[in-house]
Amino acid sequence: MQILDTLVQDFTAELKNVNKTADLLNLKAKYIGKQGPLSDVMKNLKSASVEEKKIIGAKANEVKNAIESLVSEKMQEIELAEINSSLEKDRIDISLTDSVLNKGLQSAGFHPVTLVTREIEDIFISMGFEVLDGPHIEDDYHNFEALNIPDTHPARDMQDTFWFADKKHLLRTHTSTIQVRGMKERKPPFRFVGPGKVFRCERTDASHEMVFHQLEGMMVGKDVSVGNLIYFMKTLLSEIFKKEVEVRLRPGFFPFVEPGFELDIKCLICSGKGCSVCKHVGWVELLPCGMVHPNVLRHGGIDPEEYNGFAFGLGLDRLVMMKYGIDDIRHLHSGDLRFNQQFKSF
Ligand code: DAH
Repeated sequence: MQILDTLVQDFTAELKNVNKTADLLNLKAKYIGKQGPLSDVMKNLKSASVEEKKIIGAKANEVKNAIESLVSEKMQEIELAEINSSLEKDRIDISLTDSVLNKGLQSAGFHPVTLVTREIEDIFISMGFEVLDGPHIEDDYHNFEALNIPDTHPARDMQDTFWFADKKHLLRTHTSTIQVRGMKERKPPFRFVGPGKVFRCERTDASHEMVFHQLEGMMVGKDVSVGNLIYFMKTLLSEIFKKEVEVRLRPGFFPFVEPGFELDIKCLICSGKGCSVCKHVGWVELLPCGMVHPNVLRHGGIDPEEYNGFAFGLGLDRLVMMKYGIDDIRHLHSGDLRFNQQFKSF
């Protein structure tokens, strides 16, 4: 009884110095483990009288419960302290952007393609579009087959790209792949855009690169019309160029749309009178688009008898070059800091 009387007190005194889980478990073992004083008492109980067994047994139980509840209290305390200290350590310095901005000319900034992409994403978000992403490494099905470009189709020639050794995977040639994944993952009506890098085995010159950027768009629903397509494209372009633009559609062929169009804008330099920028035509070709081909909808798990839609593929590099007056597309991936530093902006 004497041993039991002081056990909880002694335990409490030692507990004060414990602040690690391992130490706590050791302390618990020291008092109520197999080699501890409590089990010594229990072992000796055999030689006690029935009456003594009753009293000492009850007391031993009481001591054991008291120590166990002190242990679990302490355990919670330690866990909480550990969470708090890791929160303290992982604190995010939200003032970082300001300090970078304050550095002025020494600060970093976004690439012009990123700036234009974000601006266009914002315009589409304001019109109720989602922004989707897709993988750079694609398979034949997503890049060609599902977009109504079968194995032997001549349209594949225009999109020669980099194939992987397994002859099944390739670097995507266009962001239209995002259409396929986007359709499969949702039910109509929906509208989304998908910007990203695309790759083609091109001979490079001032307006051709092997890596460039597109922004795909798609809207599917009931009774979507060419009128809807024109409305969204006109709104987009007026927002980008910060003035009302006039657009026109010419027929254009892409296997994944029917009918397919080339959308031109009236030349912003000469207002359609004819100048060197529009090659004296008065119009500048800007954006291929069309009504989604029924086969493409079917590949996306959508019934073309019930739904239809439009799609477009905006060439981002061309827009970036027009916006900032860049005369050679090869600057974009040159990695030359003298070029990149001219676009510091967030
Ligand atoms: N994927 C086409 C290309 O890279 C561009 C394109 C044309 C996308 C028409 C579309 C579209 O969504 O409707 O050449």
